Formats: sequence, structure tokens, C-alpha cells
Amino acid sequence: MFKQILVPVDGSDFATNAARKALVIAQKHDSKITLLHVVNHSQLFSMGSPQSLPVITDLMIEGVIKGAEKILEDTRQALGPSKVEIETKIEWGTPAQVIINLARNQACDLIVMGSRGLSKMSGLFLGSVSDRVTKIAPCPVMLIKE
Ligand SMILES: Nc1ncnc2c1ncn2[C@@H]1O[C@H](COP(=O)(O)OP(=O)(O)OP(=O)(O)O)[C@@H](O)[C@H]1O
Ligand SMILES: [Mg+2]
Repeated sequence: MFKQILVPVDGSDFATNAARKALVIAQKHDSKITLLHVVNHSQLFSMGSPQSLPVITDLMIEGVIKGAEKILEDTRQALGPSKVEIETKIEWGTPAQVIINLARNQACDLIVMGSRGLSKMSGLFLGSVSDRVTKIAPCPVMLIKE
């Protein structure tokens, strides 16, 4: 039923729990999993002082890519060994938009993601990325709330 599961991850416990849940579903349905981290362009700008904008050095880009690779690697490690095929992907852009586009282009059957992410703002039930993805995604979205 769920052949292709997309799991967008941001390094938060919510997203790691979402990946764990996706793995359980994938084991039952013989699905493939794509772990996706989206590098938001604004992350690069936030690294420099306002005066240095819009200068983006190779070193800054390298640092951001290393950070993205670590998020994916840590999530992969948290899942442990399994027979499920797990692909990892780094994309650039606006997270919600990239997640929706990838779900469409890869014909994903299911997106499993955290209801919240890394933001420290408490009280909200949904983060901005999960809010947007649940509204616009071309497939069912499962939100993990812990
Ligand atoms: N850059 C990203 N790349 C991939 N997935 C992401 C990214 N950011 C968020 N997500 C996914 O969206 C889920 C919800 O995160 P979201 O960013 O919406 O909440 P938040 O960080 O609590 O709030 P906000 O960022 O809106 O202030 C995460 O658990 C993760 O699954
Ligand atoms: Mg966030």
C-alpha cells in the first residue's frame, strides 16, 4: 500500500521519531524510505553579519552541507540496521515546498514527519513546515507528535 515513504528530517527528536515510525510501516509494507533534509537558503544568510551580506563563501556552503549530512547520518544511525531500502537526500530551498515537490516527483504514497521540529517556541501544535505540508501535500501525511 505504501511503496514510497518520504521522511523529511531536521535533526529534531520529532523527526527522528517520525523516521522510526516510518521504518515500522516500511517493514510491514515492503516500502522504500527517502530521508530528506532541506537546506533553507536563509540558513546561509544567518551565518554572516548583515554587513557581509550577500557574500556567501565556499566555506559557509561546505559547513551547511556538512551539517545536513550529519542530520541524515544521525537519523540513519538512530534507525539501526534493517532490510528496508533507505535513501538519503539533501535539497536546497524552502523546506515545505521542496518536500511537496519531491513527494509529487517521486510519486510518494505517504509522508511521515514531526508535528513540530527544532523551533523553541512552545505552545504551538504544528510548526510552519508541517502545517504547510499537511495542507498541500499530494499524498497522506502522518504527523508524529512526540
Ligand atoms: N529543513 C527541513 N528539512 C526537512 N524536514 C524538515 C525541515 N524542517 C522541518 N522539517 C520537518 O517538519 C517537521 C516540523 O518542523 P517545523 O519546522 O514545521 O516545526 P518547528 O521547527 O517546531 O517550527 P518552525 O520552524 O515553524 O518555527 C519536522 O519534525 C521535520 O519532520
Ligand atoms: Mg522548524
